[in-house]
Amino acid sequence: MMQEILKLIRERQSTRSPFDMTRSIAKQDLEQILEAGSWAPTAHNMQNFEMIVVDDPNLLAMIGKIKNPISIEFIKENYQQLSFSEDELNQKKVGILATRFPTAWRNPDATIDELMAEDRSLPPSPTMLIMVYDPGKRAPASEGDFLGIISLGCATENMWLMAEALGIGFHIVSSLGEGPAEKEVKRILGIPDSLKIVYAIRLGYPVSGPDKYLRVRRQVKDFSHHNRYGSKGLK
Ligand SMILES: Cc1cc2nc3c(=O)[nH]c(=O)nc-3n(C[C@H](O)[C@H](O)[C@H](O)COP(=O)(O)O)c2cc1C
Repeated sequence: MMQEILKLIRERQSTRSPFDMTRSIAKQDLEQILEAGSWAPTAHNMQNFEMIVVDDPNLLAMIGKIKNPISIEFIKENYQQLSFSEDELNQKKVGILATRFPTAWRNPDATIDELMAEDRSLPPSPTMLIMVYDPGKRAPASEGDFLGIISLGCATENMWLMAEALGIGFHIVSSLGEGPAEKEVKRILGIPDSLKIVYAIRLGYPVSGPDKYLRVRRQVKDFSHHNRYGSKGLK
């Protein structure tokens, strides 16, 4: 059982490839994914989230057309997380392979025109989950609702693991929770202005099998400290 849980956790991954639009996700599977989210730990058990399940093709098409201007700030910070070869990524053990991003995104000095020229359209998916929360509430005494926001991550991970167990691809799309794109998604789905979109999640079955790519992690001995900060690894 323990080994199976660890296997599921290790195999969970981002699936950024196009999903098969002829294969919808069964209602029962969606319910299980949402129920997994509902059992997540949240600060003060506040469960400060709502999930909008979108599977209406017209709405998906409208969301798919949204263009979100990309910022120079994003490009510069994104660049810091890039590796330019598998060897480099294997050594760093954090970050993402640059080849997974459009060419202009790999250049910290890219101009807005170069960035805007890239095709940023979302790969198709038969279902999207839009996760929202109410920033008007906060976990008690939690500055910036730090604890409440962490709780959203807990709910996301539970749903992600359930999707993985069901063989359903899962892809977080943060850009739909920012700037003009967020406004547009709210307009399309009738989400009240007072709520904040955390992100959108694409769900579906990859058209051409599992999306395989190099995934790296730091080793436990590299981030754990025993009894005293700096005493690396479990003794
Ligand atoms: C809060 C959060 C936001 C993320 N936003 C995006 C995103 O906008 N686009 C994307 O392709 N992946 C996004 N990801 C996925 C991460 O890039 C991914 O989890 C990380 O690179 C590790 O890869 P893995 O999920 O395959 O293990 C996000 C993940 C988290 C937890």
